[in-house]
Amino acid sequence: MDRIVIEGGTPLRGEVKISGSKNSVLPVLAAALLTEEPCVIRRVPDLSDVRFMLDLLRHLGAEVERPDTHSVRVCARRLTETAPYDLVRKMRASVCLLGPLVARLRRCRVSMPGGCVIGPRPIDLHLKGLNALGARLAVEEGYVVTHDAALEGAVISLAGRHGSTVLGTGNVLMAATLAPGRTTIEHAACEPEVEDLARFLNALGARITGAGTPLITVEGVERLHGAEFEVIPDRIEAATFLIAGALTGGEIAVQPIVPAHLLPVTALLRDAGFWVTEDSDRVTLRREGATAARDFATGPFPAFPTDAQAQMMALMCVTPGTSVITERVFSDRFMHAAELQRMGAQIEMEGATAIVKGVEGLSGAPVMASDLRASAALVLAGLVARGQTDIRRVYHIDRGYERIDEKLRALGARIERIREA
Ligand code: EPU
Repeated sequence: MDRIVIEGGTPLRGEVKISGSKNSVLPVLAAALLTEEPCVIRRVPDLSDVRFMLDLLRHLGAEVERPDTHSVRVCARRLTETAPYDLVRKMRASVCLLGPLVARLRRCRVSMPGGCVIGPRPIDLHLKGLNALGARLAVEEGYVVTHDAALEGAVISLAGRHGSTVLGTGNVLMAATLAPGRTTIEHAACEPEVEDLARFLNALGARITGAGTPLITVEGVERLHGAEFEVIPDRIEAATFLIAGALTGGEIAVQPIVPAHLLPVTALLRDAGFWVTEDSDRVTLRREGATAARDFATGPFPAFPTDAQAQMMALMCVTPGTSVITERVFSDRFMHAAELQRMGAQIEMEGATAIVKGVEGLSGAPVMASDLRASAALVLAGLVARGQTDIRRVYHIDRGYERIDEKLRALGARIERIREA
């Protein structure tokens, strides 16, 4: 298992090339199963989660080629229905195979994804939405199964206790493209990744309007065709690098990016006193003058993204003042707090709220990565800490950040990956 070792204290400077969005490309790759014709997807990030998804597509019978590191060609002429536990358990996003399989084959057998360290991850809204379309899904022996889906457009609400569901909206959207008649999705997730999936489906010949708003309409079509498509840049990777610039007192530009996708993050950084400016596909940040801690709560887009909560907490740990951080999407997503405390952070936990008192500095320590974004927060803390931070289990970070160590080194960070058998 690789480790990342960081000597903190260098301000980061320079421009970072942002990779394609992980959370956009995973459902887009699954959606390529909706057509027998070839699809070419570009700006695909080179991540272990993407490799897991490609393994699943191959297992289901699709031909998968990688013409270059950042492109994938998928051709699902033939398709089988079983996504086994051993492949699905590696990645929760495998759940978004349900929509395409049900739509294309009218049957499926997809292992139930497990929970994960960020808390329970139910799929009740996915099942409710697909069953409202006539999927007739049932859970049998750990698998989500249907033998005789009879899809037909319907009016479906995806409102859940914690807001809507991103991959659940994706699943219903994908199935609805091939369901006869009109489907209306109420309380749809508004994340840019949902909008991107709809853009891909429309490129395949689907008839979707309203994606990116809580009300999406789909007019079912008989078949979809192949297409070429480029996914959006990763807003969470960009947020992570901007926060790295803020933490280390440097100047960072992220490019390419859709600045509107970053708004909840850039607004908070500005409010905390950082200088942030946006061009058409670039955002630049630097520290200029005094900064002050700010409270924030995560929520569905356009609220502050849960996927950047850990990284922003790392920043608040060394920003003067007190920050009250409320996690409203995944109430247990605070695994990083204990590791940050080991580096000298002052954090008090109260249920789904963390109260962070800014300290003068953190000190390097051996720490353990527990999930993707928690690991990113530890890397950020290591960049500003005195001395050495040794991060174990970095495979978590490789699931969602492409060559993060190399990108940070290019900005001046003293960071090394130690490869271990
Ligand atoms: N929920 C339900 N029932 C469901 C589905 C979700 O109650 O059937 C709840 C969840 O437990 C959670 C909330 O609804 O409290 C939102 O979950 P959502 O379904 O939106 O999450 P997801 O679609 O499984 C995606 C991202 C996550 C990101 C969330 C929220 C992918 C592959 N994953 O997950 O990304 O945190 O949306 O924005 O797109 C990450 O990249 O680190 C990551 C975890």
